[in-house]
Amino acid sequence: MINDSRVSVVSGGGTGIGREVARTLAGDGDRVVVIGRRAGLLERAAEEINRELGARRVIPVAADLTDPAQVRRAADRIAELGTVGVLVNNAGAIITPSAGEGLEALADAWRRDLDTNLITAVLLTNALLGRLSRPGGRLILVSSAAAQRGGAGAHSAGSYAAAKAALHGWAFGLARQLGPDGITVNVLAPGYIRDTDIFDGQDTPEFVAAKVADTLVGRTGTPADVAAAVRYLASPDAGYLTGQIIGLNGGAVLGR
Ligand SMILES: NC(=O)c1ccc[n+]([C@@H]2O[C@H](COP(=O)([O-])OP(=O)(O)OC[C@H]3O[C@@H](n4cnc5c(N)ncnc54)[C@H](OP(=O)(O)O)[C@@H]3O)[C@@H](O)[C@H]2O)c1
Repeated sequence: MINDSRVSVVSGGGTGIGREVARTLAGDGDRVVVIGRRAGLLERAAEEINRELGARRVIPVAADLTDPAQVRRAADRIAELGTVGVLVNNAGAIITPSAGEGLEALADAWRRDLDTNLITAVLLTNALLGRLSRPGGRLILVSSAAAQRGGAGAHSAGSYAAAKAALHGWAFGLARQLGPDGITVNVLAPGYIRDTDIFDGQDTPEFVAAKVADTLVGRTGTPADVAAAVRYLASPDAGYLTGQIIGLNGGAVLGR
């Protein structure tokens, strides 16, 4: 072990929401492993945060989390750091099937969406399950408001909403399984969050305006909004909060 500070793991930690979550947890003193497929990008993100903090707290581990062998290798690397206090399953993407290409293309797009948004979390969680802190471990899954209200705009195909919704049922079972060990399991379901790569340029001013109009607070969400919620869920103060789907959407989805 390098030192005895808490180890947090953030999948998709090289960009957008995950990067800000990593920055926040590292700023609080955690050693944070960030995982993603693009090694160069991850290394740059880690370097920038470490430089800002003046300490080497963010550790890049490149892996495609849809691939069991790569997940196993990442988990072995993480094991060298010690017990995992916090696992934030944040990696995800919107897979858009091309219209009119038949059932084969549709099946392929749905499978890729399930792989990217669900299987990544299932594999990483299971690879690290035995290494989570007991008691006190924190498992956080990043879903989407799309899971609660259906896909729209850039993710109107429905596979993204369906893949994210699958996280919810799985999380309930995990919360029941891990509660006796003192591990909490919660799902964060953000609405539109700006300054991320997920919309790949499809978040036009009209799209963003429609998202803002959906909210009760009249603004977009930010990666910092999500990071603040993760910070709380990951804290000792949140020990009585488990098995919940938490909407972080400016009121765009009410009461679920
Ligand atoms: N932005 C929003 O409005 C919004 C709203 C609700 C929910 N979310 C959710 O928030 C999470 C973070 O997304 P974001 O908005 O911050 O978008 P983003 O900037 O595109 O981040 C997604 C991250 O996931 C990583 N990733 C994707 N597939 C992966 C794989 N197979 N293995 C490992 N890493 C993988 C990507 O890195 P590599 O490409 O390098 O692998 C990337 O860093 C996602 O789960 C997304 O569904 C976002």
